[in-house]
Amino acid sequence: MLHLTSSTDPSWVGAIEERLEEFLIDHAHCEKKAASTALSLMFRYVETPALQVPLTELAREELDHYQQTLELMARRGWIMKRQHPSPYAGKLVKAVRTYEPARLVDTLLVCALIEARSCERIAVLVNHLRDREVAAFFESLLASEARHYTAYVDLACQLGPFDRDALKKRLDELAIHEASVLTCDGSLARMHG
Ligand SMILES: [Fe+2]
Ligand SMILES: [Fe+2]
Repeated sequence: MLHLTSSTDPSWVGAIEERLEEFLIDHAHCEKKAASTALSLMFRYVETPALQVPLTELAREELDHYQQTLELMARRGWIMKRQHPSPYAGKLVKAVRTYEPARLVDTLLVCALIEARSCERIAVLVNHLRDREVAAFFESLLASEARHYTAYVDLACQLGPFDRDALKKRLDELAIHEASVLTCDGSLARMHG
């Protein structure tokens, strides 16, 4: 279960389908950013051994997804470009508390929610994209992104000072915030826009 408090309307796919090149460039940026976030956490919390191996595995998988996205783009003659990111992640992290250990727990839960939303939207793409090559590509990522969601929640459970109920309550609060900062109109061809 992904613990999101809103679902994406399939009509979102229509706007994406018309701007698939822009969307895949965004997706490539997202994969690289996911790897970079995992690496930053490994640096910031270098003295937290429980984080190191799970985040190493996660960063490696995200970079692998980045490479696969570049390869799919290359088959169509599409190349990476700088893009304005969607404001989603910047708004989402504003809810992270600024003192430890709450900062670590919130950061892990926010990462979990980003993974959950990617997963939810990838499932919508798999079911509704007319471009079946791109749909099949996203389907190949689905299980791995769901596993990333679980990995981040498990780390928050393991490292947080909360009991399970308190952690679930915090995840509920952050999930409500996540739904409030997500754009659903497809005006930006972005995974979270
Ligand atoms: Fe990924
Ligand atoms: Fe991921």
